[in-house]
Amino acid sequence: MKKLGRNDLCWCKSGRKYKVCHMSFDEKIQQYELEGHIVPDHDMIKTKEQIEGIKESSKINIAVLDYVAEHIRIGMSTEEIDRLVYEKTTQMGGIPATLGYDGYPKSVCTSLNNQVCHGIPSKNDILKDGDIVNVDASTIYKGYFSDSSRMFMLGNVDTETKRLVETAHKCIDIGLEQVKPWNFLGDMAQAINDYAKQNGYSIVREVGGHGIGLEFHEEPFVSYVTAKGTEMLMVPGMVFTIEPMVNMGKQEIYIDDDNGWTVYTEDGLPSAQWEVTVAVTESGYEVLTW
Ligand code: MF3
Ligand code: CO
Repeated sequence: MKKLGRNDLCWCKSGRKYKVCHMSFDEKIQQYELEGHIVPDHDMIKTKEQIEGIKESSKINIAVLDYVAEHIRIGMSTEEIDRLVYEKTTQMGGIPATLGYDGYPKSVCTSLNNQVCHGIPSKNDILKDGDIVNVDASTIYKGYFSDSSRMFMLGNVDTETKRLVETAHKCIDIGLEQVKPWNFLGDMAQAINDYAKQNGYSIVREVGGHGIGLEFHEEPFVSYVTAKGTEMLMVPGMVFTIEPMVNMGKQEIYIDDDNGWTVYTEDGLPSAQWEVTVAVTESGYEVLTW
């Protein structure tokens, strides 16, 4: 952290002097750092204006998933979901963040059944009765990024798979309860992991959430398998995703060799995931997407 004088303008661009703005905040963070904790840099703390921008982007992201919810049906290909996402996003003035990201070819990820994440929409993948699918949309609007995903259940989903989807949804609420200033990302992770385990499920280790806002994937990496009291300190202004991948069976995964993207469960059992973009506020959290 750059050392600012008491009478310098605050780094947060509020236009106020450092001593009346973020000085005591920084001192508190430094105290945690001295105690050996991982703490956020200033560039992980968004200004009010930036959070407003992320909220505008999130509005599109929510509308896109609502649009998918209205149109998704048995017999549709995942490629058609991709078209819905592209059309709705661009019609609202946004850009799908995944399109061309690191060579990713589509506007959305559609992960079916035993696919954990990063399923690539295809005209050959037709939604059928009993399927579960995660639709993961991300939007760029006026330079601001948002990211969220929902599960959709097609027709008659068997009871155990339904319970998996519901448990994954509940994991988001359980995680959110831990999002408040001066808690740690590990507090959230352990709460989620404990809940998934109590239900007989497991959480994927290798893929997790991320800071977001000015870029698609920012620091920190957000794990959902780490312990309470560990990982980065949460402070107001941080924006990140909560997106645990919950496996019905074992936590082991592998990546599709042919496309280099799609993640599958090693044991072939289903996996479910919901994702929100969340901001840490002075008193707790605000969910920006759903
Ligand atoms: N929305 C996914 C995430 O949570 C996107 C992964 S990048 C992709 O980060 F290229 F695979 F889409
Ligand atoms: Co994400």
